[in-house]
This record gives sequence, C-alpha cells and structure tokens, in this order.
Amino acid sequence: MPAMPTLKNAYIGEKKVIVRTGFDVPVDDTGKITDDSRIRASIPTIRYLLDHGAKQIIIITHIGRPKNHEQILSTGNAAKRVSELIEEKVIKIDDYGQAGLPSPDDARIIMLENLRFDSREKDKDIEKRDSFGKELASLANIYVNDSFSTCHRDHASMTSVPKFLPSCAGISVEQEVETISKTITDPKHPFVSVIGGLKADKLNAVINLLDRVDKVLIGGALAFTLLKEFGKNVGDTKIDSEGLDGFKDLIDKIKDNPKVLLPVDCIVANKFANDADAKVCSVNEIKPGWMALDIGPDTINIFRKELSQAKTIIWNGPIGVFEFYKFAEGTKQIATAIANSDAVSVVGGGDSGAAVEKMGLKDSMTLVSSGGGASLRLFEGKDLIALKALYKN
Ligand code: 3PG
Repeated sequence: MPAMPTLKNAYIGEKKVIVRTGFDVPVDDTGKITDDSRIRASIPTIRYLLDHGAKQIIIITHIGRPKNHEQILSTGNAAKRVSELIEEKVIKIDDYGQAGLPSPDDARIIMLENLRFDSREKDKDIEKRDSFGKELASLANIYVNDSFSTCHRDHASMTSVPKFLPSCAGISVEQEVETISKTITDPKHPFVSVIGGLKADKLNAVINLLDRVDKVLIGGALAFTLLKEFGKNVGDTKIDSEGLDGFKDLIDKIKDNPKVLLPVDCIVANKFANDADAKVCSVNEIKPGWMALDIGPDTINIFRKELSQAKTIIWNGPIGVFEFYKFAEGTKQIATAIANSDAVSVVGGGDSGAAVEKMGLKDSMTLVSSGGGASLRLFEGKDLIALKALYKN
C-alpha cells in the first residue's frame, strides 16, 4: 500500500477543511467533560490548520452512543474546551441545513452537533450513510481524519465523507498509526505482548502476534477460557466458550506453545463483587462455587520477569477485574512493570488504557492509544477501514 496521505502533504491554504475528531469524551450527568485527553489529542491538527491558512475549520465528532439526542452528549462543551485550548473563537452550530454555515469571516472555526444525533451516521444502509457523508462533504474542500479511535468504524463521517473530498490523516492519527505499526512490524527483542480481557476473539491478536513476539502473556477471563479448553477445572469463572468456537482449529498453535504463558495461580472469589471472599489458589485447584477474578502472586512474578527483560511491549485488555479493588492487583502490577521497564511500550486504549490513566502511568508509556478497538485491529494485523477510505481521494 502507498504511504498514507497525511496533512503535512496536503495544501490547505484558503481551503475549507472538515476535520473528523475523536472527541468521544467521558461526561458526567450534567454533560461536564470529566477527561479532555481526546480533545487535547486533536489540538495539534487544529493548530496546524490555523497556522497554514485554512479558510474555515469545521470540526465534526460523536460523543457517546446517543439514543435520543441526549443533551449531555451535545458537542457544546467540547466546542468550549477547544476554544479554551487554542485560544480562538469556536462557534457551535446546531443545524446547517437551511441557513448553511456562517461565513469564514464570522466563524473561522465551527463545531457541528454530535454526528450520532443523525441516524444516518451509523446506518447499516450504505446509501443513507453516503447521503450524510455527501452533505457533510459539501461544507468543505478537504477532509481530515483525526479520529484514530473510530478508524475501525464504517460510519458516514469516517468512510463516506472521504468518497467526496480529497482526504488525509490528521497529525494524531498519523502518529498513532505509525507508532503502533512500527512497534509491531519492527520490534526490538525480546518482544512481549500482554493480552487480557474477556472476549475470546482477542485470540486473533494472539495468533497474529505469535510469529513476531518472544512471549505472549495471557490474563483476564481469556486466560481461563483457554485453561478450561486445555482441560482445567475453572469452577464458576466467567469464560467465553462460545467465542472460542471460531478458533478451534488454531487452538493447537497456542496449547503447549513455549511462547505462551498462562496463569499458574489466581485470586478466586465466591461471588462477582468487591466484598467477595477472596483467596489465592493454584489454577489446578479452582473449586465449583469459586471464580477466578485476577491472576495470583506467582503469575505476577513470572509475568513481571518477562516484562523487565523486554525491549518492546504491547498490552491490550485488563488482567483481572480491576474495577473491584480486591481484584485489581494483577492489572496494577503489570501496568507498573511496563511503566518501569526500558521497553518501547504501546498500550491499547479501552480498559487497559483507562487503568494506566487511573494509575497516573500514562507518561511512562511510549503510547497509550486513544482507540481500544482500533488498536486491537492493528494488533490483529488487520486494516482499518477508515484509513483505507483515505486512499480513494
Ligand atoms: C471509542 O470510544 O473507542 C470510540 O469513540 C468508538 O466508540 P464506539 O465504540 O461507540 O463506536
């Protein structure tokens, strides 16, 4: 594939530019933004467009998964935050249909309403998505995708708009894609990947990485799904045996593979709750009525040793049920070991990214990706549909 079209290779002077950002920020029940990292991530792109003479910048984004135009998911507060961060006026527009957009002289930077308030954004029917995409494209001369976290989504703002405009990746997308791709394709060894979480389809990533990595450390419910498949009794542990169905042919690649390390002990609980009775036990001794909710101390030591020697580490998925403090130790210890290592470290977004943020370790990692699903696709060796869409124009 040719090099990805990027903003730095685009001529934007005097052009109207529509920028798809990933401002899918957490908000409280009044709509107040509780973490603005995803807004900050696109400030370099917006600043670049201003500095290179863009005539008008039209920012589009979604926030959350609205069902009925919930006002707490409106983009008004995001517009205010962008304005504070770039110290320029940002005009929030609710409806551009009848009146069109204000002129660039009156509004150089515009923020449109939450894209998902229009059902065509995510419609299954490509014609409806394209009709929305065409409408958005008609507002500008160039499209910039600066939303890595939605690059795996076949939504109007991601894959339809670029059908109608010259298109390129913004600065944050370029940086994330480059860092993740380079880490996976050109790693320094030892290269260790850590895969956790619940869903068995994460095995796509495990299997794709097997040829490249020196070790894969598996935690989370995924580990116990595999242990059960390999004949262990996992008691009442929540596993994803249905999800495993598609992988039956590939399971032999993982079983007894010296590169794959599964837990040897765990923390079991008598219920799925913070106040459960909890105890350490070997993975050979999980009794009915008990469920594994975290890895145990021996496993932590084994995993920590691998991570301390690694030169490259990628991590996706929590190691235990870290929302419950009693079962957060595995995730905490793995995050700390990665932060303390000298390795190039890429943490997929989603829950593992949130854990790293919560622990204040983000700055100790090379990259905490803004996109859980999107970074996982790259770990799996798959294309991102919205990046492919940029090549058409
Ligand atoms: C994310 O938070 O990962 C992105 O904004 C994608 O959101 P979605 O899963 O609702 O499409």
